[in-house]
Amino acid sequence: MEITNVSEYEAIAKEKLPKMVYDYYASGAEDEWTLRENRNAFSRILFRPRILIDVSKIDLTTTVLGFKISMPIMIAPTAMQKMAHPAGEYATARAASAAGTIMTLSSWATSSVEEVASTGPGIRFFQLYLIVQVTRDRNVVSQLVRRAERAGFKAIALTVDTPRLGRREADIKNRFALPPFLTLKNLEGLDLGKVEKTDGSGLATYVAEQMDRSLSWKDVKWLQTITSLPILVKGVLTAEDARLAIQNGVAGIIVSNHGARQLDYVPSTIMALEEVVKATQGQVPVFLDGGVRRGTDVFKALALGASGIFIGRPVVFSLAADGEAGVRKVLQMLCDEFELTMALSGCRSLQEITRNHIVTEWDQRRSFPTPRL
Ligand code: FNR
Ligand code: LAC
Repeated sequence: MEITNVSEYEAIAKEKLPKMVYDYYASGAEDEWTLRENRNAFSRILFRPRILIDVSKIDLTTTVLGFKISMPIMIAPTAMQKMAHPAGEYATARAASAAGTIMTLSSWATSSVEEVASTGPGIRFFQLYLIVQVTRDRNVVSQLVRRAERAGFKAIALTVDTPRLGRREADIKNRFALPPFLTLKNLEGLDLGKVEKTDGSGLATYVAEQMDRSLSWKDVKWLQTITSLPILVKGVLTAEDARLAIQNGVAGIIVSNHGARQLDYVPSTIMALEEVVKATQGQVPVFLDGGVRRGTDVFKALALGASGIFIGRPVVFSLAADGEAGVRKVLQMLCDEFELTMALSGCRSLQEITRNHIVTEWDQRRSFPTPRL
């Protein structure tokens, strides 16, 4: 059957993948309230489209940290993509490059920075976890950053919401572990490449043993001393932290709740976005990830002040369903839907998308019929 929207890949992935793998990709933390909320909140925003504007030409291009890309739709880091498809991160990298957009590679990818670079040209960011809780050996982190630099990665996305792993109950029940034929390739040489079976979630154990829980703003400063790459902080949800991020010299902020996999009952990212945007006062770009599945979602995020969005699960699900072709199709469908949304709202460029093109349920100034959730 023909795939006509991004969400349809999930059911195919569920059918194809071992339960342990599908559950790991799909899960959120605890009650999964935030997981549902990440999607539901988009339906509390409606359009105020403008009409009779010549939309015969629409320009979706944008610039992120100085890099020109085809559209404000990028790929978030998701760990262990080879569990979805043998081509894993290679396929994702090729699909992103073909679409002219940015891929973020996870620290816990099953392909290394060098391997991903070998797929050919492309603008890529590297997601960093500050590992090595036990030895506190920051050389490991410096080496990893240096390797990413040498492999041509253009920015570091420092994930700041994971001092410990959120409780994902399916992973606990399934005794989640990385299949033994795979490794976390970036860390293989450091003897940190395996995520082994434990009495619970193997990943939670790995994180408890390896993640540096002492991570704080001073480490963001430290990171700036070891690399000249721009640093994005991924996982900001409040105005307070947005202001601290700017004070600490970051190049950009990613409003993210880690796909609802960390602290449950945090707000959806689309509802947290505006607070962060207001606090940054245009000093650094603000991006969003979490629950983006439609071109209309992309438009809503931009109308609320995001400079672009990232997608996580749609990549692993489409990868599982159809490898590189699946990821290409996801990017193409989102691009097409977003372009259509722009046309039907009377916007010809990203600059023309304004706050007045939407109305949210939390706006006082107008009321609209609330969709049933
Ligand atoms: C993630 N995410 C994530 N984030 C990160 O900084 N490093 C990582 O290794 C991972 N790994 C990961 C694996 C899987 C299976 C998922 C679903 C998510 C979080 C990811 O970057 C992003 O924040 C969310 O996935 C965005 O939400 P959606 O698009 O999945 O709803
Ligand atoms: C996750 C980690 C790898 O969300 O970020 O599973």
